[in-house]
Parts: sequence; C-alpha cells; structure tokens
Amino acid sequence: MKFTNNIIIIAIVAMMMMNYNVVDASSYVSIQEFPDNNCTGEYFAQNYAIVGTCNQGAMYSCDGVTATRTMYKNDDCSGSSWQQQSYNIGQCTGFPELDQVGYTIWECVDNYTIPANSSNTIVYLGSCETPWNENPVLWVNALKNNHCFPQTGIPPGSGMVRCKNNKGLMDFTYPQRGCKGQPETDFEPFQKYCNGDIAHDFVCTH
Ligand SMILES: *[C@@H]1O[C@H](CO)[C@@H](O)[C@H](O)[C@H]1NC(C)=O
Ligand SMILES: *[C@@H]1O[C@H](CO)[C@@H](O)[C@H](O)[C@H]1NC(C)=O
Ligand SMILES: *[C@@H]1O[C@H](CO)[C@@H](O)[C@H](O)[C@H]1NC(C)=O
Repeated sequence: MKFTNNIIIIAIVAMMMMNYNVVDASSYVSIQEFPDNNCTGEYFAQNYAIVGTCNQGAMYSCDGVTATRTMYKNDDCSGSSWQQQSYNIGQCTGFPELDQVGYTIWECVDNYTIPANSSNTIVYLGSCETPWNENPVLWVNALKNNHCFPQTGIPPGSGMVRCKNNKGLMDFTYPQRGCKGQPETDFEPFQKYCNGDIAHDFVCTH
C-alpha cells in the first residue's frame, strides 16, 4: 500500500512537472523596445531570441515569471558564464545595453512573428545557401520603418530607418530627440552572410 502510494505520488509529481513544462514551454523570448521609461508609447523595435539554444555566446530561458539571458565566454556557450540577467515578464524595465535611452518589455512566446512595415535582421542556424525561413531562427531584430527612436550622444539625438527597394537600409541620424532637424543619412546595403553554421539575412516587410 505504502509502495503504491509512493508510485502514485511519483506519478502525480511527474504529471505536474510535465504540466509545468507544457504551460511554460516558450520557444522565444520577445523583447520590445520603447522610447520612454513607462513603455506607454509605441515600441520601435521588436526582438525575438530563441529559448534554450546558444546564439553566439548568449542563451535565453523563460520560467513563466522571468526571462533570463546568460552570456558565456565561449561562442558555443560552453564553459563559464560572465553575466546572467533576469527580467520580470510583462514589466517595463531598463536594459543596460540600450544605454538608458530605451526601455523594454520581455515576454515568453511560442514563436516569432516578422512584423509588418519593418526592417528585419534575422540570424538563423544554417548555411547561406538555404533560405532563412527553412531553418531554425535564433534571433530577429525588427526595426519599425519610419519610426523615430532615441539615441545616446551629446546632445542626445534620435534616429529612424527605412527599407530601400528591399536592397538595404536607409539610416537617418538626427541631432536632437524626436527626429527633428537636418538628418545625416547613410545607406547600408543588405548582405546575407554566414559564419560557421550561423547565417544572417535581412528582410523588409511592408
Ligand atoms: C511616460 O514617460 C514619458 C517620458 O519619460 C513622460 O513624458 C510621460 O508623461 C510618462 N507617461 C506616464 C503615463 O507616466
Ligand atoms: C514559427 O513561425 C514560422 C514563421 O511564421 C513558421 O515557419 C514556423 O513553422 C513556426 N513554428 C512553429 C513551431 O509553429
Ligand atoms: C508603414 O509605416 C509608415 C510610418 O509609420 C506609415 O506611414 C505607413 O502607412 C505604414 N504602412 C503600412 C502598410 O502599414
């Protein structure tokens, strides 16, 4: 009797663990970037990072309450980590890499979505010979076209991007916030490139 009780308990615990995994199974961490510290404005960038697969020394995880990014010394995420940072899901929070100019909302999601009207950098596991969308996507950075975002600098400036004929990115850099004044413009041609089994591609959506 005792023995069967234990088995039942083990079975229940195992089921709970499975449930827990099903409920919290998220394939991507979504990171939206906002220009203001309360994230009330529209986001200007949408990133997706794959969960549980190493991408150039970074590994993301999600437990339903927090999303965590761990940075490793080695590109293949072997060996020790040098930084681990967790973010509460759904909360507006600063992100050190944005140098205080932007705030982020982190979420756990089942899949990525390439947003409309955006310039997207896509990192995937595969070769340059195969299309990105036939491979596991590790990272998406989508910048909304024609959307002003804050930039650091003295004085603080702002910027905007636009896809040009699906061939590259027009970059506008403004000397003040709010994309006012005369911009400096720059054209960055899209260039698909590969490094080992990691490939980078660019996609314009309209
Ligand atoms: C949100 O932050 C911006 C910039 O810091 C500020 O101007 C605005 O009043 C804030 N809005 C709310 C609802 O707190
Ligand atoms: C995730 O989304 C991509 C692009 O829409 C799609 O090709 C892929 O099949 C989706 N993956 C899953 C597991 O649904
Ligand atoms: C794309 O964004 C621009 C600027 O926000 C807007 O003027 C345009 O109508 C948008 N296009 C579509 C198809 O949503």
